[in-house]
Amino acid sequence: MKFFIDTANLDEIKEANDLGVLDGVTTNPSLMAKEAIIGQENILKHYRTICNIVNGPVSAEVIATTYKEMCSEGEKLADLHDNIVVKIPMTLDGIKAIKYFYDRGIRTNCTLIFSAGQALMAAKAGATYVSPFVGRLDDISADGMALIAEIRTVFDNYHFDTEILAASIRHPMHILECAKIGADVMTAPLKAMKQLAKHPLTDIGLEQFLADHAKGQKG
Ligand code: E4P
Repeated sequence: MKFFIDTANLDEIKEANDLGVLDGVTTNPSLMAKEAIIGQENILKHYRTICNIVNGPVSAEVIATTYKEMCSEGEKLADLHDNIVVKIPMTLDGIKAIKYFYDRGIRTNCTLIFSAGQALMAAKAGATYVSPFVGRLDDISADGMALIAEIRTVFDNYHFDTEILAASIRHPMHILECAKIGADVMTAPLKAMKQLAKHPLTDIGLEQFLADHAKGQKG
C-alpha cells in the first residue's frame, strides 16, 4: 500500500519524506487555506514547491465547479509539474472533466467519494484514483471501512486500473484496516503515520536494552 501525506504544510511534508516511506501528497482547499497561502500565484507556487520535495503524485484540487472551468483550471494545474494529479470533486460535471483529462493522458483523483456507486462512476470515466472519505463516514456513524471493502470488490470484479486512495484517515488503525482490505493507497496526516510505528512495549524494551548495556559497560 502506498503512503501519501494529507497536508499542505511544507515542514510536515519534508518530515514525512525524510522518513523514506512517503509515496505522494494530497491537498485540498481547506488544507491549503490552513497554510494561509493567499492569491492564485502563491497557490500555484506552493504546489510547485511540494512537487519539488516529493518524488511522487501530488493532488491539487480544482476550485471550479463547472465542466469547462474544471478543464481549464485542471490543465493549468497539470502544466505546473509532472507530479501533479488534478483533484476533481464527485459531481456530474466532475465526471465529464475526469473523462476529458483521461483522454489527454492527465491523471485525476476523484474526491469526496462516499458510496461505491460514485467510485464506479469515477472509474468508468477513467479516474486514476478515487478518494473515499473513511473518517467522515465514521463521524456520522456509518462504516467508512466497509466502503473501502465494497469498492475493492467492485474494482476487482472488473479489473479497473483506478486505484483506491483511502482518505480522511484519522488514526493508525484506519491505516492498518485499509492495508488488510487492500486499498492501493492511503493518505493520512503525519501524526497518524508516525503513530503506526509506535508501540509501548517497543519503548519499554529499548529502554531496558540501553540500561542493560550501560550496566555492562560499568562492570
Ligand atoms: C482527501 O484527499 C482529503 O484531503 C482528506 O483526506 C480529508 O480528510 P478530513 O476528513 O480529515 O478533512
